[in-house]
Amino acid sequence: MRNFALEVYFSRWEFAARYHLTASDMESFTTTELLDMATAEDRAAFDQQWLGYTETYGLPELRSEIAGTYDNLAPEDVLCFAGAEEGIYAAMRVLLGPDDHVIVAVPNYQAAETLPLDICAVTGVPLDPDDNWSLDIDQVAAALRPNTKLISINFPNNPTGAVLSRDRFHALIDLCRRHGLYLFSDEVYRLIERDEAIRLPQAADVYEKALSLNVMSKAYGLPGLRIGWIGCQDRALLQRLERYKHYLSICNAAPSERLALIALKARDRILDRNRALTRDNSALLADFFAEFPDLFDWRRPDGGCVGFPRYTGPGTADAFCEALVEQAGVLLLPPQIYQSELLPTPQDRFRIGFGRRGLDKGLAAFRAFLRSNWAT
Ligand SMILES: Cc1ncc(COP(=O)(O)O)c(C=O)c1O
Repeated sequence: MRNFALEVYFSRWEFAARYHLTASDMESFTTTELLDMATAEDRAAFDQQWLGYTETYGLPELRSEIAGTYDNLAPEDVLCFAGAEEGIYAAMRVLLGPDDHVIVAVPNYQAAETLPLDICAVTGVPLDPDDNWSLDIDQVAAALRPNTKLISINFPNNPTGAVLSRDRFHALIDLCRRHGLYLFSDEVYRLIERDEAIRLPQAADVYEKALSLNVMSKAYGLPGLRIGWIGCQDRALLQRLERYKHYLSICNAAPSERLALIALKARDRILDRNRALTRDNSALLADFFAEFPDLFDWRRPDGGCVGFPRYTGPGTADAFCEALVEQAGVLLLPPQIYQSELLPTPQDRFRIGFGRRGLDKGLAAFRAFLRSNWAT
């Protein structure tokens, strides 16, 4: 399989750089902090958790709590995975064969295109930077082939932070329904939109052939739990995915399931903290970029906790990111990471994250680098 460029880059830098300014998850918690949010009953269940195998579908109480985050799904419509990544992998392997065709929005989280590319024909449809990174549904329709099986989207989007308008989201579902297509909807950044009014419905709530992917990693800030899930009304399909999971993680880690349950029950508190953090960090970023109008072009994204500003300074954005991490220990994701095999992607943009605490310290190092070394 192709290398996962982002993970390769992170293997080199994620724990070596002093300032991780490109994290795609929210600030996390310690186990103690999370347990402090538990009811006495859930705390006791965690302490007494038997460390044997668990149910492949996921802890029943956890599946019920997850189902409660949807309008129209029952616990039986939820299958848990080891993170979102395992869900993407299992879904693509189970749904696609060599004769199929997939349509994927670009730019994307690389697994969204490399996994289908490993199996079948794939067409990219661009998110348009001149239209707030929106997806043109007519272009999606034009890319359809007789053997198209699945359309893959991710809103709020990694890396652009785009959120599709409701009209277009429903137009896309209408298109899928008319052609009997699966819609794979990666919703891992949902719930931390800039404005609640633009939040999209979860695809599995409104479309019978949608797979809604979600995880504890991003909006909830708990990637170390490795608890993700797919919500889908098609229970026969979920069972095929469950059979595939028998060859992957088999089941989730029991302590993680308990901790995820505690976090979901405390989700209002966690999400309030995280929304406040993205709001405050966005203000810091706006001030920072305003100091360097000749070097950057920045607009706050509509959702999620990453953005994709343009670098307008000397040299390439890749060289700039490299110098920044090598000389100042400030990690960004250079544009080469978001290159797609399907379509050209902007080579003058980098990914920056604004979900974690300590952004001010990272920006101070970033500022010092610009003032001393770069163009000022
Ligand atoms: C859009 C998107 N989907 C899926 C994932 C994978 O999530 P996880 O690390 O929880 O498996 C990520 C992680 O960065 C992501 O950005």
